[in-house]
Amino acid sequence: MARIENSRLTVVGAGSVGVSVAYAALIRGSARTVALYDIDRPKVEAEVLDLAHGTWFTGGTVVGGADPEVVAGSHVVVITAGAKQRPGQTRLDLAGTNVRLLERLMPTLLEHAPEAVYCIVTNPCDVLTVAAQKITGLPASQVFSSGTVLDTSRLRRLVADRAQVSASSVHADIVGEHGDTGFALWSQARIGTTPVLDWVSPDGHRFTPPELDAITQDVRDAAYRIIEGKGATNLAIGLACARIVEAILGDQHAVLPVSTVHDGLHRLHGVALSVPSVVGAGGVQYVPDVSTTPAEEDQLQHSAQTLLATQHALGL
Ligand code: 2OP
Repeated sequence: MARIENSRLTVVGAGSVGVSVAYAALIRGSARTVALYDIDRPKVEAEVLDLAHGTWFTGGTVVGGADPEVVAGSHVVVITAGAKQRPGQTRLDLAGTNVRLLERLMPTLLEHAPEAVYCIVTNPCDVLTVAAQKITGLPASQVFSSGTVLDTSRLRRLVADRAQVSASSVHADIVGEHGDTGFALWSQARIGTTPVLDWVSPDGHRFTPPELDAITQDVRDAAYRIIEGKGATNLAIGLACARIVEAILGDQHAVLPVSTVHDGLHRLHGVALSVPSVVGAGGVQYVPDVSTTPAEEDQLQHSAQTLLATQHALGL
């Protein structure tokens, strides 16, 4: 699948998210070599062995360890290291701790892989994308975040279930923060080519505005529910990251709602949030204008202001 010959993905962080990214990438054949890097040597070596023992069934190669040289030669680096949400915490509560982590980590990664595309998954991923861009000085296209790709998958599944269609036939996105102020861009949402409010399901069901609000809330609450039940979310984010990696390594020009630092889009400056963006070789290739209703525009600005408040509190 990967277009780059001998493509190499490095996943930074051998916790449950990092391992899930590596596992999903291996199973999907997203990259020829999947490397795992973590400063916890016994943990990362054990995870590398466990993954490597499956390569008879997946193809590909797994390497990794606790030396930063692991990152050298990577085409894509996915960063999952850092503190994770405990029950009751928001993603933004992690900002200070994880910005400090990036301040230590990014210079080392950049030294070993200056050409790589960096995808930040650690939360709050939007704020950390701004931090990573400032620390590295890389162009916004080369350091971005998984943003609301996962939220969008959650959204499409909920809409698909009610519409009784496949999730791949739902064209709807969560935009804004990967967090409590992210929202569904319902004005642009389609099932096939039918606007979502005009869709009639085979059983006669029609979406109503209150139902769409409830679906948005369901998406916002999803991670909290999973964290209550199993302590972390990891499997779906692993698949979401593998999808993003494939878009980059295959130069797919895929439209995905990743989060980049904006400089002018909808009057947003110096803040990273998700809008549908074209992802291919080199990272985010193009961020087209996004159509919004006045109410959606207010939600977008609210999301930006929320993120900016956290950034400013951290001096970003
Ligand atoms: C998620 O949305 C917690 O950000 C993580 O699953």
